[in-house]
Amino acid sequence: MPLLSAKEMLNDAQERGYAIGQFSLNHLESVRAYLLAAEAARSPILLGVSRGMVDYMGGHRTIVAMLEPFMEHLVITVPVALHLDHGSYDEARAALRAGFRSVMFDGSALPFEENLKMSAALLALCEEQGATLECEVGTLGGEEDGIRGKGELADPAECRQLAALGVHMLAAGIGNVHGEYPEDWAGLDFELLATIRRVTGEVPLVLHGGSGVPSSMVRRAIELGVRKVNVNTDCLLAFTAAVRRYIEAGKDRVNKGYQPKALLADGLEAARRVAVEKMELFGSAGKA
Ligand code: 13P
Repeated sequence: MPLLSAKEMLNDAQERGYAIGQFSLNHLESVRAYLLAAEAARSPILLGVSRGMVDYMGGHRTIVAMLEPFMEHLVITVPVALHLDHGSYDEARAALRAGFRSVMFDGSALPFEENLKMSAALLALCEEQGATLECEVGTLGGEEDGIRGKGELADPAECRQLAALGVHMLAAGIGNVHGEYPEDWAGLDFELLATIRRVTGEVPLVLHGGSGVPSSMVRRAIELGVRKVNVNTDCLLAFTAAVRRYIEAGKDRVNKGYQPKALLADGLEAARRVAVEKMELFGSAGKA
């Protein structure tokens, strides 16, 4: 199965009322864990790569070049899209040049007119290349890749203008946060989400910061038009806890338990399991 844009999977999610999970790649091993999760759950999947991970994993071209043969090797038969997460204008262009067929342009920290103009330019480029584009209004709270968002709620009028361009996915801040949620978190703003849905029509909405959001809230967000949920932290926490248990049990000192393949195996299995649970929660399991 070749790398796809997110177009067809989003259309199906829209038609059948579910959301697709975007799982963040953090290292080569996470590619294997998430591909196996999607195959086991019979779910479409987006693999997200943030700017910091692009560098860590060897650049856009390396990531594109390894993914198809990796999928072939693992005999992956479900739809997979590789997606640049929170790219700048230049990063989105570089990813497209390298063969990404789905990118996010995060212009949410720019003056809105600039965000709109750059989104339109990138959309034209994506359309030309058969790629999908995600844009954002209203910065998220929390921190990702060392960048701290202000946690501003999206302005529905700005959402309407971006959606009217014809972007393929729209991420809108509705009280969601990257990373762990604070104790006093007020929850997702469903009234705002419903307003955004009303003014943006059919554009698939994206919920970033999908970790730590109670299941009932995730389900409600999907009912209100969220078609992609981004997840990273929950998988990483499960991964790290399992690796910690392995080391604390002294397993790295037995036989060749210090080898990365052995050392990381429980962590990867834990991340894989969390991903499958998320796919079941988002309703994408069994859809591929
Ligand atoms: P979490 O790490 O909070 O799950 O957020 C992931 C994300 O939104 C990636 O863009």
